[in-house]
Amino acid sequence: MNNLSVDHLIGIKDLTREDIELIFSTADSFKEVINRPIKKVPSLRDITIANLFFENSTRTRLSFELAEKRLSADVVNFSAASSSVKKGETLIDTVNNILSMKVDMVVMRHPNPGAAKFLSERIGAKVVNAGDGTHEHPTQALLDAFSIRENLGSVEGKKVVIVGDILHSRVALSNIYCLQKLGAEVMVCGPTTLIPKYISELGVKVEHNLRKALEWCDVANMLRIQLERQEIKYFPSLREYSMQFGLNKELLDSLPKEIVVMHPGPINRGVEITSDVADSKQSIILQQVENGVAIRMAVIYLLASKIER
Ligand code: CP
Repeated sequence: MNNLSVDHLIGIKDLTREDIELIFSTADSFKEVINRPIKKVPSLRDITIANLFFENSTRTRLSFELAEKRLSADVVNFSAASSSVKKGETLIDTVNNILSMKVDMVVMRHPNPGAAKFLSERIGAKVVNAGDGTHEHPTQALLDAFSIRENLGSVEGKKVVIVGDILHSRVALSNIYCLQKLGAEVMVCGPTTLIPKYISELGVKVEHNLRKALEWCDVANMLRIQLERQEIKYFPSLREYSMQFGLNKELLDSLPKEIVVMHPGPINRGVEITSDVADSKQSIILQQVENGVAIRMAVIYLLASKIER
């Protein structure tokens, strides 16, 4: 297979295992390209991409922009904070104005779940979801699974625990779908208040004891506490959260086997992981960021191949 089964990347839920494997094999080639002295290919010289960010981002935004430029696409950037959205313009008016400028693909981060799907049903351009509220963050899950494959040889049969604020996390949901499609076993771990009530219906294990979760897993993906999405207090204090669910070096070193430590960023050092864990040899956090560019090049390249030119 050399074509995706979807026309837009809205969520991992919509992808087949073959789609994910195609994205990975394409990303393998692009990873080789971005490690060359000349890190650019002319593949998308005739394509214009708009990055629409209605919510803050560092990694995802830079990574998409870099991926697009490495593919030689023309790139325009839009940030809600400095746009006419502040004057009351709707999402669809903003996007239609941008599309009038002959844009072929839109990469969008938005605070509302479903925003990327809404857009994909109303515009002619390809849409890539760069995170929609608490729903999905598909390219993050792809780069996470790609990084596991790179470090452990494959994702099939591996045990992955996702620790922290599962309730508010689009990264958790996309990771659960992606890892399961690739044959991994998934566990979630965190305070009862931050684990959705019906999460086990997705086929994941639930554990509230961090040590037990870490003793079970091959990989621990430590998530950030998303205070910006929390309208009430879900735990007494960050100090107490960190004591029960934070990963420190003493705990990591006491485990019976060497596990891989991941984090999607941004890290709250000293809350979900300590600095010595984030910077340890078991941490692949910066490798995840590097792989993000290759994965996003692959997604954009494969979707662009479906544009009628
Ligand atoms: N991982 C991630 O989505 O980071 P940003 O919010 O900085 O893009």
